[in-house]
Amino acid sequence: MTLVPELAAAHRAPVDWQPGSWRGLPIHQQPDWPDPLAVRAVADELALQPPLVLPAEITSLQRQLASVASGQSFLLQAGDCAETFRSCTEQGVRSKLRVILQLAILLTYGSGLPVVKVGRIGGQFAKPRSKPTEVVDGVELPVFRGDIVNSPEPTPEARVPDADRMRRAYHHASATLNVLRALTQGGFADLDQVHAWNQEFVLASPAGRHYEAAADAITWALRFMSACGVDTGGMQALHQVQLFTSHEALLPEYEQSLTRFDQATGSWFDTSAHLLWIGDRTRQLDGAHVEFLSGVANPIGLKVGPSTTADDLRALCDRLDPDFVPGRLVLIARLGAERVGDLLPPLLRAVRSTGHSPVWACDPMHGNTFVSQSGYKTRRLSDITAEIAGFFSAHRAEGVHPGGVHLELTGDDVTECLGGADEVLDTHLGTRYETACDPRLNASQSIELAFQIAQLLREHHA
Ligand code: PEP
Ligand code: CO
Repeated sequence: MTLVPELAAAHRAPVDWQPGSWRGLPIHQQPDWPDPLAVRAVADELALQPPLVLPAEITSLQRQLASVASGQSFLLQAGDCAETFRSCTEQGVRSKLRVILQLAILLTYGSGLPVVKVGRIGGQFAKPRSKPTEVVDGVELPVFRGDIVNSPEPTPEARVPDADRMRRAYHHASATLNVLRALTQGGFADLDQVHAWNQEFVLASPAGRHYEAAADAITWALRFMSACGVDTGGMQALHQVQLFTSHEALLPEYEQSLTRFDQATGSWFDTSAHLLWIGDRTRQLDGAHVEFLSGVANPIGLKVGPSTTADDLRALCDRLDPDFVPGRLVLIARLGAERVGDLLPPLLRAVRSTGHSPVWACDPMHGNTFVSQSGYKTRRLSDITAEIAGFFSAHRAEGVHPGGVHLELTGDDVTECLGGADEVLDTHLGTRYETACDPRLNASQSIELAFQIAQLLREHHA
């Protein structure tokens, strides 16, 4: 069979790989399902459902990531720490898309580079946790593992893992994607709407006003182009965007049920999202998660935390990308503002020596989390900015492209992270602390950060 040339680069599964070959291998962070037969029944049902995303879209993302890896584009991966079934409403999806569009346009305009947009959306329902139980009001309860597993209410009944939630997760992901596809193809994502993406409450903040000025400049540039005779109305790229989906592939049971063989490429695709990532707690070379993801042709993200050694990373790159497929791997460094300068350079060198050319992205969130005096889990915008700056300078020193950022944010007016020009203080955290898991940047903080990233990018590519 001859392959279509542009599809020929899809990753092929190792010969001894099967969608179920992860079973029986060491596995971390799994729910203690009380009814394994119910889990199997749901997986069997999902195996008959339509894919959520298509192989051609997945390979298109991979090609765009290849262009990121070679320094010609930038990756913005952003969204909730944990999506909830409750936030799966038109308004909820619109609000997340809005802030992603705002950041993407600021990065594009500020850096002059195309931005590949990937949401932590449409399936980000499963959470790894630092402990299996927690104590609430003196009662020890199983921890909340995300809406795909159990319910966050602090009662023993709510915390029992329920297999039916995997089925509901599929349907919520499907509904989210349905709205996303409509919003990104229809008028909402049109560049004409660049002012409308700015919400009332953001407009009043310094970041919101700064955004308005950039939006004015973009609107003016579009008018200028059409005055010059360019048919801007007919240019699809100005009126639609492509937003890819991603989530942590924490539950191989769920991921396997949505994995399909594609005749055209001869590859297996996990059709639950375009990009799947492996968390920092589940990246064991001989573990179930790495085995499962080594066989699917989706671009694979790999969280790189402070305990990652150069040897680990080399071995993981070889295992996950044995054929050196450009755009196959996204290494997501989450080392913390204090340690990024020491820990990242040896890792960049180690990967370069392997000949793999992954996208290197900076997750400035997960290495900078702490519990504040008021008792809330939080992050400082200043630490987040500092880690990104450290990430860029390590890349500059090593001659590697800083490929992208991976952010936890929301379009809503929450008070979960500290700092920003409209400063969120420790005493404010309780006002609107709404996250289902980790603290997210609010819309104003996100926009402020985007200006800083755009500046770093512009300097890097000057
Ligand atoms: C996350 O991205 O929400 C997460 C849990 O990250 P990490 O695996 O890097 O801790
Ligand atoms: Co998180």
